[in-house]
Amino acid sequence: MFIKNNISVAIVIIVSLVLLSCGTEQHEKDEAVTRANQMLSRMTLEEKIGQMSQLDPGFFGGEEQLKQAVRDGRCGSLLNYWGVEKVNEIQRIAVSESRLGIPLIIGRDVIHGYRTIFPIPLGMAASWNPEIVKEAFRISSVEASSQGIKWTFAPMLDITWDPRWGRIAEGCGEDPLLASAMARAMVEGIQGDDLTDPTALAACAKHYVGYGFAEAGRDYNTTYISEPMLRDVVLKPFKAASDAGALTFMSAFNDLNGVPASGNEFTLKQILRDEWGFRGLVVSDWASVTEMVFHGYAADDKDAAAKAINAGVDMEMASSSYFDNIKRLLEEKKITEAQVDGAVRNILTVKYRLGLFDNPYVNPEAEKKILDPAFLDHARKVARQSTVLLKNDGNALPLSENIGSVAVIGPLADAPRDQLGTWCFDGQGENSVTPLRAIRELLGEKRVNHVAGLKYSRDKSLEQFNAALAAARRSDAILFFGGEEWILSGEGQSRGEIDIPGAQGALIEALSATGKPLVVVIMAGRPLAIGNELQDADALLYAWHGGTMAGPALTDLIFGKESPSGKLPVTFVKGAGQIPFYHYRKNTGRPANEKAWTPFDSIPTENPQGSLGYKSFHLDYGYTPLLPFGYGLSYTTFDYSDLNLSSQVMGTSGSITVRAKVTNSGTMDAEEVVQLYIRDRVGSITRPVKELKGFRRISIKKGETVEVEFVINSTDLAFFNGKATLTEPGEFDVWMGPNSDEGLHSDFIIE
Ligand code: GLC
Repeated sequence: MFIKNNISVAIVIIVSLVLLSCGTEQHEKDEAVTRANQMLSRMTLEEKIGQMSQLDPGFFGGEEQLKQAVRDGRCGSLLNYWGVEKVNEIQRIAVSESRLGIPLIIGRDVIHGYRTIFPIPLGMAASWNPEIVKEAFRISSVEASSQGIKWTFAPMLDITWDPRWGRIAEGCGEDPLLASAMARAMVEGIQGDDLTDPTALAACAKHYVGYGFAEAGRDYNTTYISEPMLRDVVLKPFKAASDAGALTFMSAFNDLNGVPASGNEFTLKQILRDEWGFRGLVVSDWASVTEMVFHGYAADDKDAAAKAINAGVDMEMASSSYFDNIKRLLEEKKITEAQVDGAVRNILTVKYRLGLFDNPYVNPEAEKKILDPAFLDHARKVARQSTVLLKNDGNALPLSENIGSVAVIGPLADAPRDQLGTWCFDGQGENSVTPLRAIRELLGEKRVNHVAGLKYSRDKSLEQFNAALAAARRSDAILFFGGEEWILSGEGQSRGEIDIPGAQGALIEALSATGKPLVVVIMAGRPLAIGNELQDADALLYAWHGGTMAGPALTDLIFGKESPSGKLPVTFVKGAGQIPFYHYRKNTGRPANEKAWTPFDSIPTENPQGSLGYKSFHLDYGYTPLLPFGYGLSYTTFDYSDLNLSSQVMGTSGSITVRAKVTNSGTMDAEEVVQLYIRDRVGSITRPVKELKGFRRISIKKGETVEVEFVINSTDLAFFNGKATLTEPGEFDVWMGPNSDEGLHSDFIIE
């Protein structure tokens, strides 16, 4: 017995030592956590509460009151407070005049650039090029950090199918795989390779979660999302951001299945913390904690604070329910000291990881990098690759630089602020190079006949039409720049209709009637219902809001320095009545097809009930979108051939390799985004008709052929069926092609 006991004791000691060493090792490895715990042990409750709010600088009543609050340890974070001198002064007070010297962390929305503005994120997603997007966010951090900003509320990763929603501009479109690739790139760009580098910012994956599914596309509206859709689509880019090491998440405004996202333990704790192991900090969105009172989920601000803290929101942005109520909530045992300590630990750990304790100050020299020519060149490149060619009849594009003259018309031809798009806090219109300016610089003033035709995108006045038409008639080609003013998309800027506003449609139609070659360029913050404009134009480029260098980028494309290569990151619908329409839709029990649908104008005037067939279509819109997800043309042509699979059978834990050849059969070197889609034909729950499972942007010289290869692992085909995430045996379709509607087809089975 004794020996046995001794052995057991010995085993216990050895096991404990091993566990301790792993734990210590882990602990030592995570020096930031160790330092955070040491600081935490010295803090008073007031100082802890001070860390858990991110307040607007005005909250304390003025600059002196703000500085006193920092001295007292009542303010640990600020948003929208920037500038070298201001930040260095407030940080000096924090670290040398407060009891514990805890530095502030200052946040700001640097969503698609700071002063060098890149295309809106939806536009950047249209590049399908994570590399150049990563560099764009790196540049944004270099510029923003030079002003004392160490935390940006980006990337915005809300999947959405709804172009009525103004914030579609700010996200990466409808697809979870594309949005996940962009999420990784954006987080890596924002945070850089070394978090303690002065140019590193903390990224913030937002808005966690489901905000993009606002009913009717009306901002802040209710969302109902099934768990399969949540896990297989909506959460994917957030998981990618967490895996990429995003230091922070932001909880969203929306009511998610009856529980507001800022008080939702299922998403904030079970998924984010327990399933994903996220160890960063969660900040609420602007007053999203106290808005739980409006939601009818909290009785008052104190109750809202308790619900948010219990759900796992570490820091409250803008509202002060934490600031005002944590002490009482502890006394009433509605929250625990451990929860407060946990939140403060997460906040301090982020500050340690960013090196703020070691160097909270801004180097005044850093701001010399702002608007660096190399940054502007990159913005031009990103704007080029984000632009999507949607039509090019008769190779109307590219134009020759030797063209006699061009008419430059439209409300966005020379709109320096509009081309920057929404969520552009610091970008200045004065730095924009507009299409008009870039075309004049290329061709010379004499060869450019400019008449705006409309003063702004919503302008309904026809008074300039005659002058515009006259300019068109005396030119060799017409370049129309229209779309939406920047204010028509973004937060709180949703639209019920998604047509091109004002009298632009009428002007485009009139220009088309002149018979001159008509190139239409749309600059907008959302997919618009541009069916008529597509018909009227000989060529159409979709440029989103392309940022500071939108003008030169578009000129590069229009005059053929480079071929357009963007692809749609979201389905384009024929009208708002067709929403939602997305490529991973379900088949329904009555799928429509060519034979099943009678075009609206062909419906006979006399016919019996049901004569049009009982299938899933709209009488007027039919059953196909205006343009499919992944669509985009080129100045050259790409031919796909020789699709082959390494095997037609995949084991449930195996993989297959899919290969095809892509030939540039045209006359211009260009880049193509090759896309891989699958369909799981039968599942334990219904499965989408298409799912994107891979993409690759490749450069192919004219006349060349490239072989493209994708490996599909069985895990890539897993889905959540309401009970578990699993890969099921069965038959699968696979396509490789230029968009979600076209491609070479084959099939395989999983045994
Ligand atoms: C806004 C937005 C959020 C932004 C925050 C700070 O309401 O919802 O995206 O980061 O407030 O400006």
